[in-house]
Amino acid sequence: MNAVSPDLHETGEAVNETTRMATQETLLNPRFYTTDFDEMDRIDVTPVRKDWDALLAEMKSDPNKGHFKKNADWDAVDWQGMDPGLRAEFIDFLVSSCTAEFSGCVLYKEMKRRGRNPDICELFSYMSRDEARHAGFINDALREAGIAVNLGFLTKAKKYTYFRPKFIYYATYLSEKIGYARYITIFRHLEAHPEHRFHPIFKWFREWCNDEFRHGEAFALLMKTDPKLTSGVNRWWIKFFLTAVYSTMWVRDHAREDFHRALGVDIDWYDQEVFRKTSEISKQVFPFTLDIDSPRWKPAMRRMEAAFVGMDAAKRRGGIAGWFGRMAAGAKGAAAFLSLYTIPVVPNTVPANPRLQPAY
Ligand SMILES: [Fe+2]
Ligand SMILES: [Fe+2]
Repeated sequence: MNAVSPDLHETGEAVNETTRMATQETLLNPRFYTTDFDEMDRIDVTPVRKDWDALLAEMKSDPNKGHFKKNADWDAVDWQGMDPGLRAEFIDFLVSSCTAEFSGCVLYKEMKRRGRNPDICELFSYMSRDEARHAGFINDALREAGIAVNLGFLTKAKKYTYFRPKFIYYATYLSEKIGYARYITIFRHLEAHPEHRFHPIFKWFREWCNDEFRHGEAFALLMKTDPKLTSGVNRWWIKFFLTAVYSTMWVRDHAREDFHRALGVDIDWYDQEVFRKTSEISKQVFPFTLDIDSPRWKPAMRRMEAAFVGMDAAKRRGGIAGWFGRMAAGAKGAAAFLSLYTIPVVPNTVPANPRLQPAY
């Protein structure tokens, strides 16, 4: 499954603007992944068998089977009356969330298809089922505005990034847990401030985030099958993924000011809150957390954000000046990343039993 280049004429499908947005390859856009499926298939879950069976039984019972359907709680949405700035950022939010959900669906489905290990196949069939529902539900919201993403086209047109299985564990574990933390933090905030709920989809976030929580639990157990995955040189990889995932979220969220203003959410507060929850949860399996309260943390995040704004402006400028601008912004971004990466971590003693229940 190597990079496939989009050829709109060859496929003969109509490609709308949101599909184009979802197909774009930028540092910040959600990606599609592929991995060494045979290596993954060789995982032996014996060391975590008891917890594994309990988790899989919960997934099999399918607690959210009827959840992703519009009902009377789905209020009419006034897309035309929405402030144009908010509309653009909200669409961006929905498209990138839909792409991220669908990316999980595609990867998990492929693992199930290629696997022969019954434990692995069973897990990935439940997880791809959930992610398909999530992506479909967001796409329904976009469809109401006449701008659904063509997901079938996306599987063909989007580039696939290859990650070794252990990198898939770190990246996917984090994206599931951060997904849980993002959804539940917005849900709790809007529960307290319903006047800011400008779209009904947010009402679905509580049960939704429990799916993401369970998916994260599965990756925690997979990492628990082999102590090497969270020790030695891999500690540096874990720190790298934590830093990359957190800083990507920071930059992406800070580019959506109107969206967060409409939600009544202070972006700095929201991001730090999501990092705090994710860090707390990740103590189940990672031997340290990032020091998000370090005096170096926020200033470096702001430099990272500024570098991305500069990169965007340089791209728009184009030409030689644009090229120099891109180089300069790239160097600033790399320096900011290094500054974040070198903040000393907060050590953590991982518990013998990793299983957690959603607590927020
Ligand atoms: Fe999901
Ligand atoms: Fe998920």
